[in-house]
Amino acid sequence: MGLGVDKRIVANITAIGGFVPENRRTNFDLEKVTETSDEWIVKRTGIKERRILDEGLATSDMAVEAIKNLAVTYSIDLATIDCLMVATSTPDMLMPATANIIAGKLGIENIWAFDINAACSGFLYALNMGSSLVESGRYKRVLVVGADKISSYVDVYDRSTNILFGDGAGVVLLEPSADQNGLLDAILMSNGTGKESLHIEGGGSMYPASETSIEAGRHFIKQDGKVVFKNAIQSMSDTCINVVKRNNYTMNDVQWLIPHQANKRIIDAVGKEIEIEEGKTLVNIEKYGNTIAATIPLCMWENVHRLKKGDLILLTAFGAGFSWGSTLLNWTLD
Ligand code: ACO
Repeated sequence: MGLGVDKRIVANITAIGGFVPENRRTNFDLEKVTETSDEWIVKRTGIKERRILDEGLATSDMAVEAIKNLAVTYSIDLATIDCLMVATSTPDMLMPATANIIAGKLGIENIWAFDINAACSGFLYALNMGSSLVESGRYKRVLVVGADKISSYVDVYDRSTNILFGDGAGVVLLEPSADQNGLLDAILMSNGTGKESLHIEGGGSMYPASETSIEAGRHFIKQDGKVVFKNAIQSMSDTCINVVKRNNYTMNDVQWLIPHQANKRIIDAVGKEIEIEEGKTLVNIEKYGNTIAATIPLCMWENVHRLKKGDLILLTAFGAGFSWGSTLLNWTLD
């Protein structure tokens, strides 16, 4: 045994960045292409508009902008980054990994760069992977990106999906904490029961691109909204309650809940289920809709001025797979 001093390395978030495209797709735009209404969409989802990346640009372009934003804001020399992890389910292409493309665009060389696909839970999965790398002592500066250009897979004439999704990217930098404070714990889960309820089937090895797959619309995102809705509330609530409890906190100790932004009604239901005080949940869904892996880092980035050193923060997400989980952290930035 040592001297009774816990030398465990703890990872913490030391910088944050984000990016959303300029172009807005409002509910009124959707009224023109499908039978829907601004009133219905706001009431059933809380979304007013989403951002859509221009054709000819891809997920990596938004990630690059988010990383540049982080680097400028926090004076980070990107040459000192030793791992770049990208949570995305809308990679620029099937290979190479979007992380490699981003490294190339930023001129970062000799970096360990790779993608993680866990749909809307991707950022939490990557955050946990990234913190494990830092905790191992082998990596000191890990960039964790959540980025998706989901608009490439949305059928703009399908009102069951076109109302929900938008494009965006967020990123955090993980480093060893000076005072052993930061990312405290995570519970991450998955099962295979959601495959039929939420998927993009086309373009993979099961249904490679072909006239038939395109005619069948397999390249579009499809979902059974009701099944996803129900599972999302239960799964996020359970992991939120468990991660708080197993770290000997109560929900009253949590200063901010930053949930995946899929539907305002899901967010409200989770808040109620876990009995978090009103006003402690951060929401920006009205402006961006569901940006898949980007929702949590984008919401954190936009609200960074409200987060105070020492705040206990609970993150939670649910997505395709199904995949889901919750992360508990202490905010350490001033
Ligand atoms: N505009 C107007 N009316 C509509 C629309 C629309 N866009 N969509 C459905 N309706 C109508 C239906 O036809 C139905 O009419 P009826 O009562 O006359 O039959 C009524 O509104 C209710 O339809 P529901 O499908 O029951 O609507 P619901 O309240 O379930 O909302 C929604 C649908 C918004 C899709 C909701 O189910 C949802 O948000 N689910 C979660 C989806 C989600 O989070 N997906 C992403 C997960 S994350 C990831 O990994 C990608």
